[in-house]
Amino acid sequence: MGEIASTLAHELNQPLAAISSYTSGALNILNSEAMLSGNGDPNILRPALEKASAQAQRAGQIIRSVHAFVKKRDPIRESVQIKSLIESVIPLIELQAHQFFVGIQTSIAPSLPPVMADRMLLEQVLFNLTRNAIEAMQQMAPERRILRVWASLDKNATTTPRVAVSVIDQGHGIPHEVAERLFSPFFSTKAEGMGMGLNICRTTIEFHGGTLTHAENPLGGTIFTFSLPAAPENQPDDVSKT
Ligand SMILES: Nc1ncnc2c1ncn2[C@@H]1O[C@H](COP(=O)(O)OP(=O)(O)O)[C@@H](O)[C@H]1O
Ligand SMILES: [Mg+2]
Repeated sequence: MGEIASTLAHELNQPLAAISSYTSGALNILNSEAMLSGNGDPNILRPALEKASAQAQRAGQIIRSVHAFVKKRDPIRESVQIKSLIESVIPLIELQAHQFFVGIQTSIAPSLPPVMADRMLLEQVLFNLTRNAIEAMQQMAPERRILRVWASLDKNATTTPRVAVSVIDQGHGIPHEVAERLFSPFFSTKAEGMGMGLNICRTTIEFHGGTLTHAENPLGGTIFTFSLPAAPENQPDDVSKT
């Protein structure tokens, strides 16, 4: 929650600063001699006020995208479409990616089967993994700062079909001694890291009967993949889509 709050504060600062400067500009005009003497044209205030209004709407959009994400509710297991899951977290991931000059590419295989899951918990897993990926690319050259989110049928699945979601970065990678402790609670290599992200991700994915693994990215960096069993075919459709 603290991590979301810091991203939010950073993103809101920009529209708020813009609103402040447009409105003080408008006030300066109102206080000018021409205006005070009643000879000025009030229409010259229009552009500044329109821009302030647009920035206020932008700030509202940012807050709504976070509000939908952090709303409290009882856990529900439902049929979740991976495509709609990814699409609903992307605006939040973008806030952070933008802050660190990271581009996002998504690739979602067509007609993936849904999974039975608590949608909000999966959103948090995806958010944690992408956050780590973005953080791992912070010191990289700009052309390496690309975050990829790929979803496809898990080709390693044997009996029941599974859906795999990979979060791929070209960051600093994971040395052997870090790999051993990756999922331990409170293990972090970051100055301000809490070290709970991956521990919670793994617990959540295993709770859903899935696996969370990582591999070296052949291009440099790391690939985290979670794989979940597809929902049995007679399940009702994803209710949260509508
Ligand atoms: N995509 C990644 N690339 C490189 N290292 C990673 C990545 N994801 C996680 N790590 C390593 O695993 C550690 C634990 O991650 P996490 O549990 O999310 O805690 P935190 O992000 O608070 O450090 C990180 O400190 C980092 O060293
Ligand atoms: Mg983390």
